[in-house]
Amino acid sequence: MNLEQRTYLLVTGASRGIGREMAQQLARQLKAAGSMVVLMGRSESLLQETKSTILADRPELAVHTYLLELATADSSDFARILDETLQGKDCKEFERAIVVHNAGTLGDTSKHAREIGDTKVLEQYYHINLFSALALNAEFMRTFAGIPKLVVNLSTLAALEPFPSMAYYCTVKAAREMYFRVLALEESAGKTLVLNYAPGVIDTQMTLQVQTESHDPGLAAAFKEQRESKTMLTPQQTVLKFVQVLQAKKFKSGDHVDYRD
Ligand SMILES: NC(=O)c1ccc[n+]([C@@H]2O[C@H](COP(=O)([O-])OP(=O)(O)OC[C@H]3O[C@@H](n4cnc5c(N)ncnc54)[C@H](OP(=O)(O)O)[C@@H]3O)[C@@H](O)[C@H]2O)c1
Repeated sequence: MNLEQRTYLLVTGASRGIGREMAQQLARQLKAAGSMVVLMGRSESLLQETKSTILADRPELAVHTYLLELATADSSDFARILDETLQGKDCKEFERAIVVHNAGTLGDTSKHAREIGDTKVLEQYYHINLFSALALNAEFMRTFAGIPKLVVNLSTLAALEPFPSMAYYCTVKAAREMYFRVLALEESAGKTLVLNYAPGVIDTQMTLQVQTESHDPGLAAAFKEQRESKTMLTPQQTVLKFVQVLQAKKFKSGDHVDYRD
């Protein structure tokens, strides 16, 4: 894949962890004048840090930051953000548009699957992790209908396999991945290429939460051991691999590609 084309890049959860690194490493590849980077998250100061790092490398890029709470976001929020960044320009001013659906939360890992039944909590969790991603994706597809698109979903082994204490996470990630597989099936790969990328186990706040809050002592201990022995991957390592996967482009649209593959 040629990332040197004039590109529109939008990354959710770009304030920290894998999303920040995705935004920074992908932005570094965007060599064409007129490329644009849109960073979303809830922390203004952290998004500004991501933006500054990007601009230090590539001062010619247009970089926009947007604060948006995904627990309540709907299509009109995403439509507004996309419209504002385009400022009336035709999407064809870009040669490719990329969206990285990265933002995500783990859910309450202190709970067993048998205890998860509060529909208010479930609705909020599913809104952050599934409904918002679908709403953004629909607006993204509509806005960039006329140009080639790359749609990336941050997936996980937990979308394919059950893990104790992760009933929220496994179910939402399985649903989210299936949505992106259907999208890939329906859209021509030449126009919309879809990748479900599972990054491995990464040293971020999310894995720290598993380590400190999971009711499953085996899982908590495994994460602790990986973190302490420094065998847990860094965001840099997994995003480097992700960029290599894109450049080699051996996957089919909709595939689940794992760091460990
Ligand atoms: N870490 C791993 O080992 C691992 C493994 C497999 C898959 N993944 C996936 O990779 C993605 C990133 O994970 P990570 O480990 O980098 O997580 P992280 O460090 O916890 O970062 C999560 C990001 O999502 C944003 N976010 C969380 N809740 C939000 C909300 N309600 N509204 C808006 N933004 C919200 C956060 O931004 P703010 O807090 O600034 O809003 C942050 O930028 C997730 O989809 C995760 O499922 C991670």
